[in-house]
Amino acid sequence: MCSVVGYVGHRQSCSLILDGLSRLEYRGYDSSGFACIDTQTRHLGCTKAVGRLSNLVQLLQKEPINGNVGIGHTRWSTHGIPSERNAHPHFDCHKKMAVVHNGIIENYQILKAALQGEGHLFSSDTDTEVIVHVFEQEYAQTESAKEAVLRTVEQLQGAYACVLILEDQPDKLIGIRKSSPLCVGRGKNEMFIASDVLAFSGQVEEVAFFPQETFAFVAADAVEAYDFLGNPVSLFFEKLDALWITAEKEGHEHFMLKEIYEQKSAIYKTVASCSSLGASLWEKSGISSDAMKAIKRIKIIGCGTSWHAGRIAEFFFEETTGISTTAALASEFRYRTFFPESDTLYIAISQSGETADTLEVVRMLRQHGQTVLALTNVASSTLVRECGGFLLTQAGPEMAVASTKAFTTQIAALYWLSQRIAYERGKITQEAFEHAQDALLVAGEFLENGIDSYKHQIFEKLASFYANFETFIFLGRHISYPFALEAALKLKEIAYVFSQAYPAGELKHGPLALVDDQTPVCIFSHPDPAIYQKILSNAQEVASRKGRILSFSFEGQKELQTLSEHSFIFPTIHPHLSVIAMTGVMQILMYAIAKARGCEIDRPRNLAKSVTVE
Ligand code: AGP
Repeated sequence: MCSVVGYVGHRQSCSLILDGLSRLEYRGYDSSGFACIDTQTRHLGCTKAVGRLSNLVQLLQKEPINGNVGIGHTRWSTHGIPSERNAHPHFDCHKKMAVVHNGIIENYQILKAALQGEGHLFSSDTDTEVIVHVFEQEYAQTESAKEAVLRTVEQLQGAYACVLILEDQPDKLIGIRKSSPLCVGRGKNEMFIASDVLAFSGQVEEVAFFPQETFAFVAADAVEAYDFLGNPVSLFFEKLDALWITAEKEGHEHFMLKEIYEQKSAIYKTVASCSSLGASLWEKSGISSDAMKAIKRIKIIGCGTSWHAGRIAEFFFEETTGISTTAALASEFRYRTFFPESDTLYIAISQSGETADTLEVVRMLRQHGQTVLALTNVASSTLVRECGGFLLTQAGPEMAVASTKAFTTQIAALYWLSQRIAYERGKITQEAFEHAQDALLVAGEFLENGIDSYKHQIFEKLASFYANFETFIFLGRHISYPFALEAALKLKEIAYVFSQAYPAGELKHGPLALVDDQTPVCIFSHPDPAIYQKILSNAQEVASRKGRILSFSFEGQKELQTLSEHSFIFPTIHPHLSVIAMTGVMQILMYAIAKARGCEIDRPRNLAKSVTVE
């Protein structure tokens, strides 16, 4: 997504804003722009560039604009192609005010047509530009910035986090938030506004989040905030966790590689954090122990990798707690018929806690009085604030667009939760619960051992071989099917290779027609002997059509290993934890293929880390 950064204070805004934007470039990166009130001329100066932020940095180095109040933006285009014309900031007709925006103004075409009818001149194809023209119109009429904001938000439909800068109010910025995240960082006689606290990059120690449907006048020494009805609201400043603002690659070539290697420790931290909750789990999760015992259904909501973790967890909850569980895609769930049920626990999973599709489902569920537990990696996220309770993964900051350690920690937390609920409901003993926690740590060991055992083979031999193929099929059964979905997603997003995951049993119902010697078939096995036998039959179907099999198998699964061109072999482990054991090797393989194909890896084309628009 796009990111916005603003600064007001005693220092030069340009370098601070560019530094903040560089930390948020993961959210969107097809163009960028900067504007500030020039100290000399007292007028707004602006520079924009297409492509990476480094292009903007170069332009501003050649021709600096100096000013203590400024705004900046990196764009991930939704309306209008990536171009200088469409890059933010966008201006009013007289270039006296400018806006940067993250989100989508859904009714921009109607507003634009009406404003053009009144003589407003537009300079871009974006939805964003209407914000500043609506504001310009209302400001001219009311001569009050507060009234103008109130009248503007009344007209805007959609989601937005934006920052306005006005030449005639040169000592402040206006931040406005509806649905998309926006926060303010407080320093010594200076303030920052941004889409994500990462932008504050060690500059401030305190941060406050704009509540839903609020706006604020942010000056160097004060913040004056209101809700969309014009009532004053207080922003609560809290201390920033240093870990979240200092994420670096630490010698690794890519964040993704570093994050793959961090998984064993992230699983350990997640298990330790969950188990340290003790009886307070029920209070934190917003559901009492009694209510937990009465639950008849669990519904999990998420997108992308988080949805895959939810699909994997269906097996944990159903087989361990006996509670019927389904995982739904947030973007689909929202537009299906909804049946409110009092004995259903909803679990909303999101690494970032800012995914618009997931948040919209949560809002709908909460309006219907449903119990929603957030599972997220970001304690300060919107998801935590909007759900009835939360459970945190302890992956630490995940910077690469492709999710890795967030995935394994989500699985670890969901596995832990299924065991905890089973214990609470008397399905398992305390001893079995403790054993399950230890088993999770063992799975983390297996994940890391797998990487150590196979990384040389992968980087030196397999990656360059598999980098030559343009399509892949991934097969799994039972819990290894959603794992296959995740593997296929990783290959698509970082290596730009078309890959399709199927339940292995579906092969003969159609996809078998695709099997030839040009399409590697990656088979994820299963430790359960009965399921393994079925997977083996599917592998034989592939082999007899000259398909090239790459398998992830378990010790003793000799027949599958023999049928495979290459096989990664893992120690036998409980089926529920087998996916964790396979994860490290799967991710390293996809990473190495992407690297062999010369892809960008940490910032794949067209993608953004945090998808804050629907
Ligand atoms: C994963 O590799 C993807 N980048 C993406 O599918 C991601 O998992 C999805 O956008 C959901 O994000 P969230 O977990 O932050 O809600």
